[in-house]
Amino acid sequence: MTRQSVLETLRSAAPVIAPSLLKCDFGNLQREVALLEPCGETLFHWDAMDGHFVPNLSYGAMVVERVRPMTRRLFDAHLMLSDPEKYIDGFIKAGCECITFHIEAVPEPTELLRRLRDADVVAGLALNPGTPVDRLFPYLEDVDQVLVMSVEPGFGGQKFIPKALDKLHALRKRMPADALLSVDGGIDPSTIGAAAAAGAQVFVAGSAVFDEPDYDAAIRELRKQAQDART
Ligand code: DX5
Ligand code: ZN
Repeated sequence: MTRQSVLETLRSAAPVIAPSLLKCDFGNLQREVALLEPCGETLFHWDAMDGHFVPNLSYGAMVVERVRPMTRRLFDAHLMLSDPEKYIDGFIKAGCECITFHIEAVPEPTELLRRLRDADVVAGLALNPGTPVDRLFPYLEDVDQVLVMSVEPGFGGQKFIPKALDKLHALRKRMPADALLSVDGGIDPSTIGAAAAAGAQVFVAGSAVFDEPDYDAAIRELRKQAQDART
């Protein structure tokens, strides 16, 4: 799929729920993927952590590559890595349609964003709760997706930081209309509405999906809360 058609698919499916596989059962990845299959248009969110940019380790492109043949859902790699440029090719080869790296790791992100676009991959830029939103403003023309962190990156299961809402508002006003606005951390049925009202279109959800007994019901409820808040 081309970068433009991936963006078009996600835009028209919004609100899109992006299950964060960080919270899934790694002992049975095949089953987890199968359980997500009937959940409508979703974006698989892969959290790669290097134990340096964040105080935790997770998985790399090898794991994503093995899951790729199991599903036709779109994949987004969220790179919480100090040197994303070293790993990007691996995640592209693994079949990720979207790749998102952090401005705190790459303070001058233009070149890397262009490299992603040149590879026909959706170019994403993430920012941490402590980073002022205007750090992103100079790069918005080169970005296809902005990911606003609403928790400190590194772990699932944390509480939503409401200050992220101001950032979403400010970004939505400035971002090109065809670029996607995403939010990651502490998204559940009680927080997703405010994020949707603030302009988010993609909602990463770890605990709110994988801690629930019925993933389809959990995703439907999240989607409904987001839809209700936008109308
Ligand atoms: C945090 C990750 C998130 C996390 C979300 O570093 O980027 O994607 O897994 O998990 P919840 O939804 O539980 O906050
Ligand atoms: Zn994430």
